[in-house]
Amino acid sequence: MSTESLSVAVIGAGMAGTTHANAWRQVGTVYDLGLPKVRLAVIADAYEPFAADTAERYGYEKAVTDWRRVADDPGIDIVSIVVGNALHREIAETLIKAGKHVLCEKPLADTLENAKAMAEAERTAGVVTATGFTFRRNAAVAQLAELVHSGHLGEINHFDARYWCDYGADPSTPMAWRYKGPMGSGALGDVGSHLIDTAETICGPLVSVSGAAMTTAIEERPVAKGHVTRGTALDTADASYEPVENDDVATFTARFANGAVGTFSCSRVAWGLPNSLMVDVLGSRGRASWDLSRCGEIKIDDTDSPAGLGGARRVLVNPGFPYYGRGSSMAVAGVGLTQIEQFTYQAHAFLQQVAGVTDGALPPCATFADGYREMLIADAVARSAANGGTAIDVSSITE
Ligand SMILES: NC(=O)c1ccc[n+]([C@@H]2O[C@H](COP(=O)([O-])OP(=O)(O)OC[C@H]3O[C@@H](n4cnc5c(N)ncnc54)[C@H](O)[C@@H]3O)[C@@H](O)[C@H]2O)c1
Repeated sequence: MSTESLSVAVIGAGMAGTTHANAWRQVGTVYDLGLPKVRLAVIADAYEPFAADTAERYGYEKAVTDWRRVADDPGIDIVSIVVGNALHREIAETLIKAGKHVLCEKPLADTLENAKAMAEAERTAGVVTATGFTFRRNAAVAQLAELVHSGHLGEINHFDARYWCDYGADPSTPMAWRYKGPMGSGALGDVGSHLIDTAETICGPLVSVSGAAMTTAIEERPVAKGHVTRGTALDTADASYEPVENDDVATFTARFANGAVGTFSCSRVAWGLPNSLMVDVLGSRGRASWDLSRCGEIKIDDTDSPAGLGGARRVLVNPGFPYYGRGSSMAVAGVGLTQIEQFTYQAHAFLQQVAGVTDGALPPCATFADGYREMLIADAVARSAANGGTAIDVSSITE
């Protein structure tokens, strides 16, 4: 195992980029020692105040505004790409050519064509490449997957998940990269991508999607003159407006290879719900549920209770759950868990892959191929919606 230090850069210092910066800072504090040390080298963001602030607060040596300086720096080994989806392909291809290991945020790209090219580039990349599906690293989600895979819940008949956010609910929230692109790249691409990966993590492969419907509730948004990030409201007095191109709300149904049916919905205009992800998985011997707003617990209702004393019981995330045991500085039930830890666990797994650690390693990261597969499924959902909800077979997607 290498003990040389590896140098990390993060491209994008917005909401998720800051969390990547934090994850690389925390990566050596969880699980087993023996991984290479990490040197926190560069934060790159086109908006200089964000780059400088994130570098300063998270202890990175340098802040730059041009991501090409990361690609050109021979001292950088690992790069997180955490910018708008339309930039992912160009940055990833350039970094791969420069010999960097690349952890790219989800969805893998803005279009299927770009995602396919990235998956193809991965085959001959010669470096580690990964897509940031962080929710598969959530201790509660991973525990739901174990309850399904172990057979504890019996034959699974129904999976339901919703991801409702309100970052676009205010019509004065300005135009931004999230509102550009084809139908299916809006709420579905942004938060629905997490639902699709989480569904397959828990219940295995999807084989068809159907009954999809989408709507764009707020059809135009004011254009900001300065820098904007998600959620920033704008004084609209003198603003010009641009059309919103993609979906604010998307719903669909699905079938899994195991015979279960799935019901899904996602929204970015769900008033008053900033980040509401809920998952229920129901089988012949019980059901289990998880709610991100109560991240440190799951609910189980199964056939183990004495007759007449059944009902949902709350199980606190504890060291018996996947990831949590050595993944918290205070790994005791009741201490709680947040969405932030998922990024640290993901960074740790990525570092293990770069260092070639396989013995007792965390599950490897989702690949670019996995990211392309998710986008093929999302594309099938968008085609179902465009064709009045028709069923679309996705069983032959093997990426
Ligand atoms: N895994 C997760 O849970 C999760 C959560 C949120 C976002 N994301 C993903 O992360 C990515 C970024 O999302 P976000 O919410 O952080 O977006 P954001 O808009 O908050 O931040 C994007 C940042 O990129 C910067 N930027 C724009 N153009 C740039 C360029 N050419 N070079 C360098 N920096 C540039 C902007 O200044 C901004 O600070 C997206 O792909 C998104 O889907 C993932």
